[in-house]
Amino acid sequence: MSHHLLDGKKGLIFGALNDKSIAWKIAEKAHDEGAVFVLTNAPFALRLGEIDQLAAKTGSEVIAADATNVDDLQSLLIRSQEILNGKLDFVLHSIGMSPNVRKKMSYDDLDYRYFQQTLDISALSFHKLLQAAKKLDALNDYASVVALSYIAAQRTFYGYNDMAEAKSLLESIVRSFGYIYGRSKGVRVNSISQSPTYTTAGGGIRGFDGLFDFSNRMSPLGNATAGECADYCLTLFSDLTRKVTMQNLFHDGGFSSMGMSERVMGFYNKCLDTNLPEEW
Ligand SMILES: NC(=O)c1ccc[n+]([C@@H]2O[C@H](COP(=O)([O-])OP(=O)(O)OC[C@H]3O[C@@H](n4cnc5c(N)ncnc54)[C@H](O)[C@@H]3O)[C@@H](O)[C@H]2O)c1
Repeated sequence: MSHHLLDGKKGLIFGALNDKSIAWKIAEKAHDEGAVFVLTNAPFALRLGEIDQLAAKTGSEVIAADATNVDDLQSLLIRSQEILNGKLDFVLHSIGMSPNVRKKMSYDDLDYRYFQQTLDISALSFHKLLQAAKKLDALNDYASVVALSYIAAQRTFYGYNDMAEAKSLLESIVRSFGYIYGRSKGVRVNSISQSPTYTTAGGGIRGFDGLFDFSNRMSPLGNATAGECADYCLTLFSDLTRKVTMQNLFHDGGFSSMGMSERVMGFYNKCLDTNLPEEW
């Protein structure tokens, strides 16, 4: 059922790779709520072709852009405004990738060239996007810009690797650019810190099944799904949250406030009965 939350709003959505992607669900729901938008992803992702189905379903155009490339971002912002016939009201940054995670490098044996790519793709791209948008004056007053993050920005999660540094940097850019853009144009800049979610990027994390299960047992409301993340994101794109900015907003079923739950305690105590080796 549509609440017409985004009627008349124009947007730009990064990161829909396939129907598991969080950005895919956000695009579907934004369309249902009345928004029009341009879809974008890196050239390698567009070659996979799945985004064309989403474009057809939502009546959107697709533009290739490498989010680490400032020229690509500028052309994307100019072209999107031409297609949508005006400035943008919302932008979703749903981008993350670590070559170190992909190549299964451990945190104490990182490749520094890869590390820089992790930071560039997953965090600096957000600054590049905001800077390009501000210079081109591509966003309307009180536009809303949302990035997706994870709690490994604040706490250590084995296996998340150099993506933890990328998310810390991303959340810092949310605050720093949120101040600059809020002061000049009332533009809101926030991140949503989402539960573990089965997607292409999520599944690449070492031990993801265990992480997902642990987080689900720990959270009083259970893990938040990609569809639920989309619902939350729409409220941030809407006019109902016009004074929310510079925040990292946990959307995790309560996980971030937990220390130990009964379900995890029960599971843990069962494991203790099974004579684990001493070093565990
Ligand atoms: N899946 C999870 O468990 C989880 C949890 C919390 C936060 N997040 C975050 O959500 C966001 C979306 O990830 P997802 O889980 O939907 O996975 P996904 O793999 O579907 O999306 C990641 C996207 O990043 C895009 N991308 C990579 N390099 C790019 C580049 N150079 N330029 C433009 N786009 C590029 C990919 O093509 C892909 O569409 C990421 O920021 C991720 O870190 C995911």
